Amino acid sequence: MATIIDGKAVAQDLRGKLAERVKDMKASGVVPGLAVVLLGDDPASRSYVTAKEKSCEELGMYSRDIRLPAETSEEDLLKLIGELNGDEAIDGILVQLPLPSHIDEQKIIVAIDPSKDVDGFHPMSVGRMLLEQDTFLPCTPHGILKLLEYSGISARGKKVVVVGRSNIVGKPISNLMFQKQSWGNATVTVCHTGTADLKKETLEADILIAAAGRPEMITGDMIKKGAVVIDVGVNRVEDSSKKRGYRLCGDVAFDQACESASFITPVPGGVGPMTITMLLFNTVKSAEARLG
Ligand code: GUN
Repeated sequence: MATIIDGKAVAQDLRGKLAERVKDMKASGVVPGLAVVLLGDDPASRSYVTAKEKSCEELGMYSRDIRLPAETSEEDLLKLIGELNGDEAIDGILVQLPLPSHIDEQKIIVAIDPSKDVDGFHPMSVGRMLLEQDTFLPCTPHGILKLLEYSGISARGKKVVVVGRSNIVGKPISNLMFQKQSWGNATVTVCHTGTADLKKETLEADILIAAAGRPEMITGDMIKKGAVVIDVGVNRVEDSSKKRGYRLCGDVAFDQACESASFITPVPGGVGPMTITMLLFNTVKSAEARLG
């Protein structure tokens, strides 16, 4: 049976350390501030954003919650980002993705001052990450590195298979895993919709990272005995037995996977709590840099 990697417990431990740093900064008169911008009312985005704001407050940080109609123009959003770039109280700017289709996502990301890019999505941050220079690492991949570290799992010399090539998870985590750093040194395969034989690839994985956004697509027969399984998926699937009408599930068929995996992250309670924690980490880091 697999050991469950408790993301909530790791997140809590890291948040405790961050709270100390926030306390120290407050003593110097600086409160780390995060602006969260949400357009429209997609339920999943709304629940992420609410969780981000709540976590900020729990740590004693300042959170500015900006909710705008889905019809907001690109011009108005760019103007808002310009204001936040110049706002002394704001150390981090997060624009919740995906954005409505009339807005060019890349144009918005590029407008964020790289020194406030706590999502790590700006081309400057992405480039610095690729070059292994100090930067804001994207939150979900960074959270995965922390979960592995806390669980005593080294990627060095291992075969890592990433399923999914998104800008937010697949691309950055695959890069981080082969970096010549304490968290890397793995041999990495990236699978995607163009992969000829997915099962053949996943069966090779010592560490399997599922980030495709497809409910339970990784079944038990696709997992090597003893593999570490990191499930990044957060999917809502209809379930009439639940009061809210849906249940959350990952990209991995959890019960089946538990039979072969040595370690596994659950959904919810695995990678999810880490994403927000690393966002808070980046915001504190930004505020500390400002403080000097
Ligand atoms: N949408 C899903 N995940 C994320 C994230 O980490 N940051 C932002 N800005 N949008 C997201």
